[in-house]
Amino acid sequence: MFKILLIQGPNLNLLGVREPGIYGTVSFDEINNRVVKAGQENGAEVRVFHSNSEGGIVDAIQEARNWADGIILNPGAYAHYSIAIRDALSAVKLPAVEVHLTNVHARDEFRHRLVISPVCVGVIAGLGWRGYIYALHALLGVLQDQGKAENELGYDD
Ligand code: DQA
Repeated sequence: MFKILLIQGPNLNLLGVREPGIYGTVSFDEINNRVVKAGQENGAEVRVFHSNSEGGIVDAIQEARNWADGIILNPGAYAHYSIAIRDALSAVKLPAVEVHLTNVHARDEFRHRLVISPVCVGVIAGLGWRGYIYALHALLGVLQDQGKAENELGYDD
């Protein structure tokens, strides 16, 4: 069973309440529950972590090295400037999919720059809460392909 860490960054705990016209009306807990449930339905364990602080997110990524197979993360505003989170992902080498509820490329110019994306296997933006579900499916596909590749090479019997 694949183990996935879902990281929710700053201000996302206010989802459902925070600017619902932009971020939607589905609550933070409800979104997380839906991702956990989608994980169960697809044979994966999803653990949810939220932090409003950059250091908390870096710590969670470092700890994930010991137990997780992959990471889904919505870094919130850190997406636009946190080299520390980017470096943590590069260091642990776990496949990660970045999610944004909104289409950041259609918003303020300062949201167009995504500094963490280059070390992720993919980015999903603009598709609301479902983006997390798509990210989960994408990540499980990546992990399955990796497993197959390792089997073919004889590393993982
Ligand atoms: C966000 C987009 C970011 O620009 C913003 O700072 C957020 C939410 C999104 O999910 O669309 O906090 O990551």
